[in-house]
Amino acid sequence: MSFKAVVVGAAGGIGQPLSLLLKQSTLVKELALYDVVNAPGVAADISHINTPSIVKGYLPKDDGLQHALKDADIVVIPAGVPRKPGMTRDDLFNINASIVRDISVGIAAHAPKAFVLVISNPVNSTVPIVAEVLKKKGVFDPKRLFGVTTLDVVRASTFVSEAAGKPTESLEYRIPVVGGHSGETIVPILSQTQPSSNFDQSTLEGLVKRIQFGGDEVVKAKDGAGSATLSMAFAGARFATAVLEAASGKSSQQPEYTYVHLSADAGGKEIESSLPGKAEYFSVPVLLGKNGVEKILPIGNTTDYEKKLLETAVSQLNGNISKGVSFVESSK
Ligand code: NAD
Ligand code: LMR
Repeated sequence: MSFKAVVVGAAGGIGQPLSLLLKQSTLVKELALYDVVNAPGVAADISHINTPSIVKGYLPKDDGLQHALKDADIVVIPAGVPRKPGMTRDDLFNINASIVRDISVGIAAHAPKAFVLVISNPVNSTVPIVAEVLKKKGVFDPKRLFGVTTLDVVRASTFVSEAAGKPTESLEYRIPVVGGHSGETIVPILSQTQPSSNFDQSTLEGLVKRIQFGGDEVVKAKDGAGSATLSMAFAGARFATAVLEAASGKSSQQPEYTYVHLSADAGGKEIESSLPGKAEYFSVPVLLGKNGVEKILPIGNTTDYEKKLLETAVSQLNGNISKGVSFVESSK
């Protein structure tokens, strides 16, 4: 079984390597690359790679978005501006909110059944924006909309395995990361680290901070040239592959952590009622299936310290979510 995949923002820092990685997937039969600039060039380049998928590039002219999205099974969105040093992800809202809203209008019209994977920041708000547009158009399915938070999980494995003195074993390290995707809304549950690791409280708190602010490390190092692109492309391709594998019928008992509307499954509602405050959207452990979210698993036991982290995350997230919802409500 293979699928039509669309990358919206395909000529960007994430879009290009992400498209390259998706071109390597045998689960993809058609790869549509859309951007407001340079997409035909990126598509021509990638199309020379001798893997089975057909690659086409699209610009806004000649209804490019419509043609790119038509019959899509999965749409991955890294379109929008990245941070510069000194900015928060929320500072990107003014520009990226309308970009994501307009792309969502296209998805509602031309790919209403596609899995939609949102990378554009601020993810805490852009995912509600997509949901509200799809709701307005009567095509919202919470099982098919995902905020991509895989990079937080990838970073957690890397940083924790380094701190445990086993940097070459990072692939073995599984750390749940729940909540949202910015600063203190990112909540690593290090008490559930596998293989289990005992860190003293100060190392633990240092690790939590590093995972929460890993994005800032890259923004600072790139010194004005943008934020994480290559590690994000890796994480985005990993998550997109998991969604497609599940859609093709290959089941996995390993959860993926992704930011979803908690109505996607009964398990989400249980998590919502156990959280220390209101949160309609949350990154949670999800088992994927043919139709997207198949089951939301419980977050599991947390320490008192992690409960405090969850409290802070929930209170910040709520504002981010309402901001996205109000933006669509006030859009014509
Ligand atoms: P970039 O500027 O390199 O690329 C963005 C691309 O989007 C550009 O090619 C641009 O032309 C395109 N674009 C702009 N408006 C568009 C529109 N209306 N339709 C289609 N394409 C459009 O930026 P980047 O480094 O690739 O980052 C993209 C986004 O991803 C940023 O918002 C960034 O903050 C976010 N990001 C998220 C995560 C995450 O973990 N979710 C990680 C890294 C970056
Ligand atoms: C990240 O976590 O690297 C991204 O969200 C980009 C950023 O702004 O830090």
